[in-house]
Amino acid sequence: MKNYDIERHVTGESQFVDDVITPEGMLHAYVFYSEKAHAEILNIDLSNAEKVKGVKAIFTSKDIPGENQIGGIIPDEVLLAESKVEYIGQPVAIVIAEDQLTAKEAASKIKVKYKKLPVITNPREAFKAGQMIAPQRTFNLGDPDNSWNSCKYIVEGTVESGGQEHLYLETQGAFAYPVEGGGIKIVSSTQSPTAVQRVTARILNLPMHKVEVDVLRLGGGFGGKEDQATPWAAMAGLASFKLNKPVKLILPRQEDMIMTGKRHPYSSDFKIGINKEGKIICYEVTFYQNAGAAADLSTAILERTLFHCTNSYYIPNVKATAVSCKTNLPPNTAFRGFGGPQGMFVIESAIFKAAEKMGLDPSEIQKKNLLNEDDQFPYGQKTENCHSGITWKNAEEKYSINTIRDEVKKFNAENNIFKKGVSFMPICFGISFTNTSMNQASALVHVYTDGSISVSTAAVEMGQGINEKIRQVVSKVFSVNIDRVKTETTNTTRIANTSPTAASTGADLNGKATERACQHILRQLKEIAAEILNASSITHVEVIDEVVHCDGNKSNLKWEELIKRAHLKRFNLSSHAFYATPGVYFDQEKEKGNPFAYHVYGTAIIEATVDCLRGTYKIDSVKAIHDFGKSFNPLIDKGQAEGAIVQGLGWMTIEEVIYDENGKLLTDALSTYKVPDIHFTPDIQVDFLKNSDNLKGIFKSKAIGEPPFMYGIGGYFAIMNALKAFRPDADLPISAPFTPEKVLMNLYSKVEEKQPA
Ligand code: MTE
Ligand code: HPA
Ligand code: MOS
Repeated sequence: MKNYDIERHVTGESQFVDDVITPEGMLHAYVFYSEKAHAEILNIDLSNAEKVKGVKAIFTSKDIPGENQIGGIIPDEVLLAESKVEYIGQPVAIVIAEDQLTAKEAASKIKVKYKKLPVITNPREAFKAGQMIAPQRTFNLGDPDNSWNSCKYIVEGTVESGGQEHLYLETQGAFAYPVEGGGIKIVSSTQSPTAVQRVTARILNLPMHKVEVDVLRLGGGFGGKEDQATPWAAMAGLASFKLNKPVKLILPRQEDMIMTGKRHPYSSDFKIGINKEGKIICYEVTFYQNAGAAADLSTAILERTLFHCTNSYYIPNVKATAVSCKTNLPPNTAFRGFGGPQGMFVIESAIFKAAEKMGLDPSEIQKKNLLNEDDQFPYGQKTENCHSGITWKNAEEKYSINTIRDEVKKFNAENNIFKKGVSFMPICFGISFTNTSMNQASALVHVYTDGSISVSTAAVEMGQGINEKIRQVVSKVFSVNIDRVKTETTNTTRIANTSPTAASTGADLNGKATERACQHILRQLKEIAAEILNASSITHVEVIDEVVHCDGNKSNLKWEELIKRAHLKRFNLSSHAFYATPGVYFDQEKEKGNPFAYHVYGTAIIEATVDCLRGTYKIDSVKAIHDFGKSFNPLIDKGQAEGAIVQGLGWMTIEEVIYDENGKLLTDALSTYKVPDIHFTPDIQVDFLKNSDNLKGIFKSKAIGEPPFMYGIGGYFAIMNALKAFRPDADLPISAPFTPEKVLMNLYSKVEEKQPA
């Protein structure tokens, strides 16, 4: 069941874009980018750069034969700057040379004359200045304005959450080469082959069928290659098209960090109202999203923030407003959770602050307000097979929460400098692209005459094990050994109009399309088998472990022979099938609908220890009861959960993206941007919620890619609780990431001390 790429990864056999054997005469590209966050371009002087030996060409926006436009949702982003630049790192010119270093050296000789314009990096300031990406949106449930009266406790506050660098191991890159007839082939590290194809066609003024995009695998994507793999592929395509030569463009790590967008930082205001029984009656929240200088996927991400603004709680009266603010930073983009984590962090913060005021542990409020069956979300959908309560209860029991609490209490009583904290983090995450039309996929299955099988889908392998899952689907439907099945590259000529592999839907969408394609072929095979075995109908025959069974009895007819006979009899051994998630829709005018096929639930318990002298801390453990549905690959799914948890903890704790007031990224290398490593990683125990299945998912499983990321939010509050053990009365601000530096400041800051009750 292992992700079958693993052995190749370990032996170094796996190929990434920069490893693929390339056509002869390959040239190399380096991107020259803006050094100003906001400025008019008065003049670009290429003369010195062009003189560098080995330079073949330098392209600017003027060289684009088609439309200089790469915006996916909103057409507001150019491939190469024209008369102005809006962030540091914005591509201005592409230098093509015999090798990358020469191209880079030449780029350093390009001189641009700028006229500086005011720089805004803060979303609230951008909002005040009227700089919005799109009109703000509001989700409403119940009667928020008239329900504050029935609340005994009303707490207001603000919450900050930071960006996050994707840090995929393989940086952005692509190579392109010309093909006969004026077309272009592109090998790209993208989650969205069709986006690369569409945009390159637009840039080159070609019909889409003249642009073929091929993806072998990604060295990680995490959302960073859903939209932002496109420009580099389009640039390689542009240069290759203009020069009629193969061109490779690989971003060096630092350039990748400077030029690409990250998780969106948010600044948010909340107001929460709770009655005397501890029920949340009302919740009002406003999200200011820091979009960066162009829309990219920001509006879709903001929408998911709204969808998940109440996390796994039922709140009868909700008013959630969200606005995407345009700033002079690289356009921020998709990142695991897609805005969901930002929304959930705010409600968890609101509950934490309310608990503080009520003198309770936050878990008492959390537990009392968990979703039940048939509860309505602010967007109209109701829960179905809701597993909020059961995962919470199982977590309490399985991990002996009372023992944990006793031990923490004892530890804190005995230690003055070290303090421990515990938190609960329940999650509820909707599965489907929130843009309904994207919930489609197709698969192309070939059975070759030797019985081996090839399968192509829209799914992109990025380390999440999708290829192994697709192979399992084929192996299961045909009942053949999995070694017979090979997944092919993701290719726009074999599979057209692909949705990105994103929203955790890869296995469901592509798995179901694959299942259908195999079923079509299997039906043909059964027909020929029935004929050979003289069965009266295909309902009597079945393939079990590569052998045809007739009325439950094993026959002599084996898989390979069956395939040979089918071919001789001129049966179709190939099938293309399509799948579209049924029943999902959303009405943006009413802000109501049924956007998700289903929800994923779970509850984690997180423990942390803080050194209250130094501000350093250790996340000790994360224990989670997670709802995997009926997992058909527990090993991969567990790996996904563990990886997501660590990535979520990183976002909440040590990963800090810092731009200075001029919009310059200060954390542009691994010396200044810290990510979790094995020493950081806590003990992680992920247990499968028992007796869960899911008719909406492939083989009754549930999507796994993103949901467990949000357990990481519990890390913030575990640290916060440890801090509170040290300073019980301090009213500390909520601002993620909770770096050791910030923890230290909070331990000794002069914040308002609460009046003792
Ligand atoms: N796991 C690995 N190893 N590498 C990745 O890039 N991306 C995550 C998640 N798990 C990612 C990963 C994100 S953001 C998503 S949306 C899903 O995988 C996408 O794949 P799936 O739809 O097949 O789950
Ligand atoms: N998730 C991830 N990517 C997306 C989505 C989504 O809901 N919608 C559009 N792109
Ligand atoms: Mo994942 S953020 O949907 O690529």
